[in-house]
Order: sequence, then C-alpha cells, then structure tokens
Amino acid sequence: MNSIAPSDRMANVHSDIRGPVFEKAMKMVSSGIDVLRLNTGNPDTFGFTMPDSVRTALINNVDKAVGYCDLKGMPEARNAICDYHVVKGILDLTPDDIFIGNGVSELVNMAMTSFLNPGDEILIPSPSYSLWTNMAYIVGATPVLYRCDEASGWYPDVADILKKITPKTRAILIINPNNPTGSLYSKEILEQIIQIAREHKLLICSDEIYDRLVMDGLEHVSTAALAPDIPVFTFNGLSKSHIVCGFRCGWLAISGPRRQIGDLIASITKLAAMRLCGNALTQLVIPAAMGDAQSTKTLISPGGRIYEQREATINALDQIDGITYVKNSAAFYLFPKIDVKKFNITNDKKFVLDLLESKHILLVAGSGFDWPEPDHFRIVMLPEPKILSNAMQQIGDFLSTYRQE
Ligand SMILES: Cc1ncc(COP(=O)(O)O)c(C=O)c1O
Repeated sequence: MNSIAPSDRMANVHSDIRGPVFEKAMKMVSSGIDVLRLNTGNPDTFGFTMPDSVRTALINNVDKAVGYCDLKGMPEARNAICDYHVVKGILDLTPDDIFIGNGVSELVNMAMTSFLNPGDEILIPSPSYSLWTNMAYIVGATPVLYRCDEASGWYPDVADILKKITPKTRAILIINPNNPTGSLYSKEILEQIIQIAREHKLLICSDEIYDRLVMDGLEHVSTAALAPDIPVFTFNGLSKSHIVCGFRCGWLAISGPRRQIGDLIASITKLAAMRLCGNALTQLVIPAAMGDAQSTKTLISPGGRIYEQREATINALDQIDGITYVKNSAAFYLFPKIDVKKFNITNDKKFVLDLLESKHILLVAGSGFDWPEPDHFRIVMLPEPKILSNAMQQIGDFLSTYRQE
C-alpha cells in the first residue's frame, strides 16, 4: 500500500491531453499498433521543423548560455520581446517588464502563485486549455468557469462573466486565440471584458501564445494594447509559432499602472529569483525568432501547412452527418460538436476511447477542456492534409454505426 498520499490540492488536477485515454494509446503503440495522435499541439511530431533562423542563432551563440543568466531573462531577449509587444500597441512596455521562463506553463505557475490566495476566485473560459484551471487548484484558489458561446463564434459570453463575479474574484483570464476552439476575438469583445475588469478591479491575464498563428487575413489584437489603464499580464512564447515546444521558451509581459501592483511584481521577481533563471539556451534564439515572422506566416498562408491542414480537415468533416463545427481562424485546433442524441452519447471520454480502439485515432474529449456537456471533442490539425482528410473519413465511418449503450 502507498502510505504517502498526494496533497489534497492535487485532487482536481487533470490532464486529459495526456490522461488515461492517452495512456491506453501509448500501450497500443508499444504493442505495435500505429495510432494517429491528434491529441497534443506538438508540431514536431508531424515533421514540422524549427526555422533556420532559430537553429543558426542557437548554434552560433551556444557558448553564451553556459552560466545562470539574469533572473528575468537575457537582456537581448527581453529587448526583442519588448519591441514585439510595443509594435503590437503595448506602448509603455520596457524590457524590465518582461519575465522569461521555461514556457508559458512556468510563468502561469509563477503568476498565479503570486496573486491568488487560497479561496480566491479566477474567471476562466470554458472550454479552455487545462493548465489554468489546474494551476488555480494547485494554489488552492477556485477556477470559476465562464461560458464561451459556440453560436457567437466561441466568443466569451459577457453576461455569463458578469453573473459569475463575486467579492472573491481576483482576476479574469482571456485565451486569445483560444485553445481548443481556435477562435480569434474581436477588439469589441475584448473591450467589453476589459470594461468589466476595470469596473470590478480585476487583474487581466491574457494568454496569447497563438497570436502569430492567425489566418484568413485577420489580425490579432493584444488585450493589453486596449487597456493601458489597468494591470494586464500578457503570456506568450515560441513553442507554437517557431515550432520549438521542447525548448520551453515563454514570457510574461506586465503592463498597466505598475505602481498599483508594485508588491505583486516584487513577488514575481522573488519567484523568478528562486528558480535562478529560465533556460538560457533557448533565450539565445529569441532575438532571431522575433525577427523572423516570415517562417510562421508561410505556414498559415494558403499553400502553407497549417492553412491547408485546416482546409482538408473541415472539407472532410463537412461530409459527416451529425458533426458541426465553427471554423477556426487561428491556431491548429478545431472543437467540433457531435449530435449526442443521434449517437446516444452520454460520456465523451468513452466516445474517444471507443474511437481509439476501433480506428486507432487519438482525440481529446471536450470535458478535458472543462466543457460541461459530452458533445464536443478537440482535433489537433497537425498531420499532413491527406492524413487528416483520411482520419476524418475514418471518424465518419466509425460514427455511421456508433451508438452508446
Ligand atoms: C493556451 C495555451 N497556453 C499555454 C500553453 C503552454 O505553452 P508553453 O509551451 O509555452 O508552456 C499551451 C500549450 O499548448 C496552450 O495551448
């Protein structure tokens, strides 16, 4: 018997992207079955490669990354990040407002540890990437889910946000572009959320890791650029835009009236000091990556892989009776709706498990993104168009006879 129990804070922590269905898939792989892994947003798995600009910067500068670097990050890297965000409209940002860390994941940990007390509430979109709800549980806070509305292009439901504010609410999270819906928010919807934060004195956390993966000629608007008068934590990184998830390279940019949050910034600085520094090797590539917008643009333009993979996926999905979707305009995720009455689906995790066993395709159930009904799943559109198209046909074939007991 295991006599050393995990802490109570771990009880609600969940990762369905790498959860029990994933473990089952890995067992199938080790027994020699070829499983198509549409579960993680890890482009390297499907033959995407980092840009040459990034590889060259790493190789040429490797000797500069041997020691601990500045606890906030290397000056050249913070300058490049700062310039990027100033161009996007966060006008009063300085390199001193940037904290570089081991992926957005580490910075979310540091940020939430610094501003949430046990019992505090943070408003988090549903559906959303589970990092944020999990971190809330880990610090003893309560994630309060606000609904994003599929009928409105998966935009946040502002009325629902307002309903869910209590005296314990400390912050509101915006994930734009969103994972798992791939939705890109308009300036108008951002302004409405900012106004709520303004009136209720909430900190805004804006996770913008997919901001460079926006398609169809649309443009990403940075939340902080619209809210110079309130504190905004903007999270971003190179994992997706420059195909270097494994580098663990992310940052936090703090904007708005710094004097109001001086103690909070000092706390984050203490946490940054505690872990000495972010991975210095990966910081070497930041100036080159920020100067290389073209390699990402190529992927998301017609003819580019991310664009064509989306087109292939939705064209094939259109042929399936009982599945509808909101076309994503950013990132490489789709969050289709499944007609639960038609297929008698009451358990979305069972649906993805049954599909895995039957067709060897690994998806993540909507409930893994804190979505309350069993009627959605997420597709990661990273394999080549033909593979995706074939996978969608296989899903259609599976559904043609599928009914849950
Ligand atoms: C919305 C969102 N935020 C953060 C992350 C984590 O990013 P990083 O690799 O920088 O830790 C992911 C990863 O998929 C994500 O989808």
